[in-house]
Amino acid sequence: MKRLAILGSTGSIGCQTLEVVRAFPRDLQVVGLGAGNNLDLLARQIQEFRPHLVSCASAPARGLVPIPSECRWASAEEMATHPDVDLVVMATVGRAGLAPTLAAIAAHKPIALANKEVLVMAGEVISQEAQRQSAPLLPIDSEASAIWQCLRGEGQEVRRIMLTASGGAFRGRSPQELERVTPQEALQHPTWKMGKKVTVDSATLMNKAFEVMEIHWLFGVPWERIQVVIHPQSIIHSLVEFADGSVKAQLSPPDMHLPIQHALFYPERRTNLSLPRFDPLASSPLTFEPLVPERYPCFTLALEAAKRGGAWPAVLAAADEVAVDLFLTGRMGFLDIYRLVAKVLERHKPVENPSLDDLLAADAWARETAFAGVR
Ligand SMILES: NC(=O)c1ccc[n+]([C@@H]2O[C@H](COP(=O)([O-])OP(=O)(O)OC[C@H]3O[C@@H](n4cnc5c(N)ncnc54)[C@H](OP(=O)(O)O)[C@@H]3O)[C@@H](O)[C@H]2O)c1
Repeated sequence: MKRLAILGSTGSIGCQTLEVVRAFPRDLQVVGLGAGNNLDLLARQIQEFRPHLVSCASAPARGLVPIPSECRWASAEEMATHPDVDLVVMATVGRAGLAPTLAAIAAHKPIALANKEVLVMAGEVISQEAQRQSAPLLPIDSEASAIWQCLRGEGQEVRRIMLTASGGAFRGRSPQELERVTPQEALQHPTWKMGKKVTVDSATLMNKAFEVMEIHWLFGVPWERIQVVIHPQSIIHSLVEFADGSVKAQLSPPDMHLPIQHALFYPERRTNLSLPRFDPLASSPLTFEPLVPERYPCFTLALEAAKRGGAWPAVLAAADEVAVDLFLTGRMGFLDIYRLVAKVLERHKPVENPSLDDLLAADAWARETAFAGVR
């Protein structure tokens, strides 16, 4: 029985993780559930899964959620480090994942990591600490999971990673058309059903640049060996080319249950008959297109920040989190996401070899500057 703490249990990845748990009641047990503000759903999850520990973003809100006597409130960090937890599932979005991820690493816990923003903010610190503390980072993101699966058993130098991207909700639209698109349109992802932030990040392709950073830090692949290609069907989740020119790919229908299950049971592969299966004839044709950088200015901007290093990616991640929220709440337009993030990055004063405190300070500064930029 593997005992799980699921942080972000009320989100898209969190709920799908609980569906995998339902499919394997004898193998997986939920001992911790952590939510943000969706207390009704958290209450229902507590009734069903009977965890020992629960958390939510706002301490005063705790009074609104009835919990059984065997259960108690805890902080996200306490849950991520508790001795009863065998695996931490990090399914929160944005900065909320950073402190619990670092706490779990310090406690030598394996982490099934969906929250890629923590690797954008502090990839160097997290990857070094995870190695030093022998706390494995098991990717949940479908592209990172695909590369992880392709690399398994290889021990060979990677010549190239081909990271696939659907192209998001607005593939093929002109910049003029994008000026007027609504949050509802941006949330219509062509192949995946995901949380709001990652869906908007997919439409700007900010998400793909975040994944380049995720791959760089998880697998130590140099920037210049990671190539992004548009693959509209989202069936090939990524490809890895080795020294001899041989290429391995991982394929499956666009459904997050599989990469989640892979991380929960690694290194085992389990049969789960409820998951959709790949059918080559039904999936045909599988196509590729080049990524045209002019169409996706956020992608180029984000990669520049990644390559500069220091606190630039932390500023990028924070400004993007604010910008996406402002767009989703109707306070600015879709193309303003790029404009605002670029403006915040322009004002950033670089920090040499930033410590974790420097990164947190850069994050706080970037949020404040982004809000000030739209006031
Ligand atoms: N969804 C996907 O298919 C997918 C695929 C690949 C990677 N990812 C990555 O996985 C992560 C989660 O994505 P998602 O789509 O599941 O997002 P989501 O649906 O928005 O869920 C986010 C979760 O985080 C919780 N949360 C938000 N702010 C919090 C805070 N301050 N403290 C504690 N919890 C907080 C939310 O709680 P409440 O809802 O209760 O407020 C919710 O449970 C993201 O980094 C995303 O890029 C997602």
